[in-house]
Amino acid sequence: MKAVQIDEFGGPDVLQVRDIPVPVPGPGDALIDIHSATVNPADWKSRNGGYAKPPEGFFPHTLGRDFSGVVSALGNDAEGLKVGDEVYGVTPQGADGAYAETICIGADLVGLKPFSVSHDQAAALALTTLTAMIALEDTAHLAAGQRLLVQGGAGGVGSIGIQIAHHIGAHVITTASPGNHDYVTGLGADEVIDYNTTDFTEALSDIDVVFDTVGGEVHTRSYSVLKPGGKVVWIGGQPADFSNPRDDVEVLRPNVQRARRFMDRISDFITKGVIKTPEMQFMGLDDIRAAHELSATGHVRGKIVLKVR
Ligand SMILES: NC(=O)c1ccc[n+]([C@@H]2O[C@H](COP(=O)([O-])OP(=O)(O)OC[C@H]3O[C@@H](n4cnc5c(N)ncnc54)[C@H](OP(=O)(O)O)[C@@H]3O)[C@@H](O)[C@H]2O)c1
Repeated sequence: MKAVQIDEFGGPDVLQVRDIPVPVPGPGDALIDIHSATVNPADWKSRNGGYAKPPEGFFPHTLGRDFSGVVSALGNDAEGLKVGDEVYGVTPQGADGAYAETICIGADLVGLKPFSVSHDQAAALALTTLTAMIALEDTAHLAAGQRLLVQGGAGGVGSIGIQIAHHIGAHVITTASPGNHDYVTGLGADEVIDYNTTDFTEALSDIDVVFDTVGGEVHTRSYSVLKPGGKVVWIGGQPADFSNPRDDVEVLRPNVQRARRFMDRISDFITKGVIKTPEMQFMGLDDIRAAHELSATGHVRGKIVLKVR
């Protein structure tokens, strides 16, 4: 089967498209023929060696965190699925493997894909919704009427965060460049700040929750807009020397776990019409170097979807 692997950490040149054997499902595993996968910033951060030192035997490593496809075989004791089921999911951190025609993954980590969305849409909604849902619902406990600032509303996670927060009944403010203002307003943002021309720290105050998907200096500056007792939920990365400048706010890092129960919650959002798919740009496994370069610009609107078959 075709897969994108790395044999070492480095720039886009280390990405290799090659044929590798189809994996064999072990106990509890599902073998899934992937139709669509997506490119996440985590992929090029992994490729660069930006995460913890990998274990012995890590290379060759197949990248790719989320996917949608069809179950082609099941290992012993794999529960809740049958061959032919359309499923989608997110791979465990460090395992990856979705940039491939077939993936072997714990059956208990994937969920049934709602019929109302295509494989492309399901893949585009997987890690983005998992992250935004756990950040806003399970970590920040965002409530109706609260004022939320989503840093980076036009991105993959931000575009879902806006929709979930709008559904909860929060007042949603987001930062985006001007070309994305109509896009984020269409997703449910009540106010949009052009971060190129407006300093959000001067425009905003009394914020209950900041959902920071951008990180760096945006993260550091986000604290001043919070009301006492407010919360920062961050996924974008704190600066290396960061320390919380306020003792009257909470700093929360969501624990983005993988499990079928989370995929089922995402499916519930989809079938109830709470979330629609972020804008998609389509590429293939053969385009992976260009796809990584595009993602690394930090200005993709919505999701890059890899059409695998
Ligand atoms: N912890 C986890 O489990 C987890 C899970 C998923 C993602 N993440 C991390 O979360 C971050 C976001 O992921 P993503 O998939 O949403 O990324 P993405 O799709 O690449 O989002 C990039 C977006 O950020 C916006 N942006 C860039 N600079 C900005 C600024 N200064 N102010 C406001 N918006 C800005 C861009 O919009 P404009 O073009 O309008 O600037 C673009 O749409 C990444 O660092 C990723 O690694 C963590």
